[in-house]
Amino acid sequence: MDSGKNLQIAIDGPAGAGKSTVARAVAQKLRIFYLDTGAMYRAIACKVLKKAIPVDDEEKVSKLAEETEIAFDHDAERHIWCDGRDYADEIRSPEVSRIVPLIAVYPRVRKRLVSLQRREAELGAVVMDGRDIGTHVLPKADLKIFLTASSAERARRRWLELKAKGQDLTLEEVLTDLETRDKQDTERAESPLRSAADALIIDTTGLSVDDIVCKIVEYVSDISEQGKEKSIRNIGMKN
Ligand code: DC
Repeated sequence: MDSGKNLQIAIDGPAGAGKSTVARAVAQKLRIFYLDTGAMYRAIACKVLKKAIPVDDEEKVSKLAEETEIAFDHDAERHIWCDGRDYADEIRSPEVSRIVPLIAVYPRVRKRLVSLQRREAELGAVVMDGRDIGTHVLPKADLKIFLTASSAERARRRWLELKAKGQDLTLEEVLTDLETRDKQDTERAESPLRSAADALIIDTTGLSVDDIVCKIVEYVSDISEQGKEKSIRNIGMKN
């Protein structure tokens, strides 16, 4: 581990790969902060809808993002405070899900949110999940994980989640929506979704959340051990 820097764990992957569930559980186990960067893009999308700004008005959407203050409760809960209001519930609506990839392509929106994300990482040890964390937001992260699963499996998980929340969509609708979002996220010019060259790729199909979390926590303790050895060796060299 890079001494003088807080622990940083980056978890990237497509929608429905299990990033947020895994990232939150890892953060809880390690007692560090969890930052859901997708929630930040969703919060901006939510404001765009509330203010009835046309989604294709890049200037207005970018300005709105630049003027928005986003804060988190540094606990395991999913509160996201946007201009002093908790947006946690509203950001998961199907309408927000539909427009969020469209505003996530705007460079000024990304720049604003990336700077807020890096600011959070400076405050303490963090597990951050998103699409560009290992490749762009935290390129020096101590551990980079890329979670993936088949689109059928990811759609099934999302569909069960939405059903539990009382949202009445068919599995086919969820699959189509997910494949559209994958395409938008991977094909955009600005920080597209891809795994970092030094990321560990985990296919979560058929794995339990516990299995994945244990694997990641093991990697973290390996890194900490290597870090300790490195600093002991460095002390040895100085003497
Ligand atoms: O993870 P999610 O479904 O809540 O993400 C919502 C959208 O935000 C999704 O279309 C991808 C985009 N996103 C992004 O572009 N970069 C991130 N770091 C996180 C999310």
